[in-house]
Amino acid sequence: MTATENVAAGLQVATFTDAMSRLVSGLAVVTTRQATGQPCGLLVSSICSYSVHPPSVLVVVDHASRCRDSLTHSAEFGVHLLGRAEERTARTFASRGADKFADVGWEWDGAVPRLCEAPIYLRCNTTVVFDHGDHTILIGEVAYTAAVSEAEPLVFYRRLFDWRLGRNGVRQP
Ligand SMILES: Cc1cc2nc3c(=O)[nH]c(=O)nc-3n(C[C@H](O)[C@H](O)[C@H](O)COP(=O)(O)O)c2cc1C
Repeated sequence: MTATENVAAGLQVATFTDAMSRLVSGLAVVTTRQATGQPCGLLVSSICSYSVHPPSVLVVVDHASRCRDSLTHSAEFGVHLLGRAEERTARTFASRGADKFADVGWEWDGAVPRLCEAPIYLRCNTTVVFDHGDHTILIGEVAYTAAVSEAEPLVFYRRLFDWRLGRNGVRQP
């Protein structure tokens, strides 16, 4: 049995997800405009700085996401790196709520819905889209970065939001 077949059989999934839960992640809300003109967005932890030349980010979106088609067809998307104060926003955008934008402050930045409270905002031009397995990988070149505001990051670790790392690895209050 190959490694892929092993995972497909579910034999290593729990071990894999448990291992990856030990990877400290930042959290971001990725937004774009739907064909209907309405905003859409989802919470992601699968995001990283991809390159500096050109400045680019890489985002991974599940095929099950309702935003996926809008993201793959839009010329632009927004990335909002969340601070500790945005845990509620994180939970909202991780949900499948009917209107995730109803209780957050936001505005249009051209064709990109911008969340006003996020401490870090990047507007990206979609440059690469490809599928692998049940996810889509997007690479976006950063067209605009708002001035970075100081805020402690929202950290996802061991399946918990708002993990504050201490030197000894113990969760801090
Ligand atoms: C901590 C956390 C991290 C997540 N990271 C991702 C991710 O990287 N990519 C993804 O597609 N979904 C991710 N999700 C799941 C989506 O946020 C979730 O499925 C959401 O409901 C999708 O919304 P939509 O269907 O309106 O697009 C994550 C959820 C949580 C709680």
